[in-house]
Amino acid sequence: MRLDRFLSNLPRFNRQDVRQLLASGRVRVDGQVSRDGRDQVRVFSCIELDAEVLQAGKAARYFMLHKPVGVVSATEHPEHRTVLDLLDAPDKHELHLAGRLDLNTSGLLLITNDGQWSRRVTAPSGKQPKVYLVDSEDPIDPACIEAFARGLYFRFEDLVTRPAELQILAPRQARLTLYEGRYHQVKRMFGHFQNKVVGLHRLSVGAIQLDERLCPGQYRALTAEEIAGFANH
Ligand code: URA
Repeated sequence: MRLDRFLSNLPRFNRQDVRQLLASGRVRVDGQVSRDGRDQVRVFSCIELDAEVLQAGKAARYFMLHKPVGVVSATEHPEHRTVLDLLDAPDKHELHLAGRLDLNTSGLLLITNDGQWSRRVTAPSGKQPKVYLVDSEDPIDPACIEAFARGLYFRFEDLVTRPAELQILAPRQARLTLYEGRYHQVKRMFGHFQNKVVGLHRLSVGAIQLDERLCPGQYRALTAEEIAGFANH
């Protein structure tokens, strides 16, 4: 929210006070004097008035998890174990998922408490590549390569999928790069060719690759470089 809104939400300041505090240079956000009430502040911002801390600023947290098959991409579920059950992080109820994978899909899942960051990861307009390893029941028809590159019509959403890159690695295995994330997209694309996906594993999202050292169910904090890949430039 805007800094002036944050300050005037505090019971002790009215709008006039806020204007004066800002103009006098007494307010600092993350250590920098801020005189502009339009500046954006977040739960992660440290906001100070003189030497008094008005908001300490929560730590932003970012994880990658190697999601195993059979664990649900949700923070709560009545039947299945959830990906949050795999995390041993303090205040993990404050975390949410930056994207989802189906119950029987494995691979890279991003988890954070930073809503702006996760919106950038999942934004349909973001066009960040998502790379999957696909195992299919039947041999993959080479005609898929061109059809996926052209885009397929999804009747339910009434849209044509964005051009996707398919690289056939073996008769029943391929690497597929998508630039969007529609519901069951990979399975529906192969379904278009009457081929069933029997194994699906996500290797990367944008520049973030699943760390090969992570076994299914393991996770680690993202590095500053990985986080910055989805920073607000
Ligand atoms: N496409 C699918 O069909 N399932 C996933 O989990 C991810 C992409």
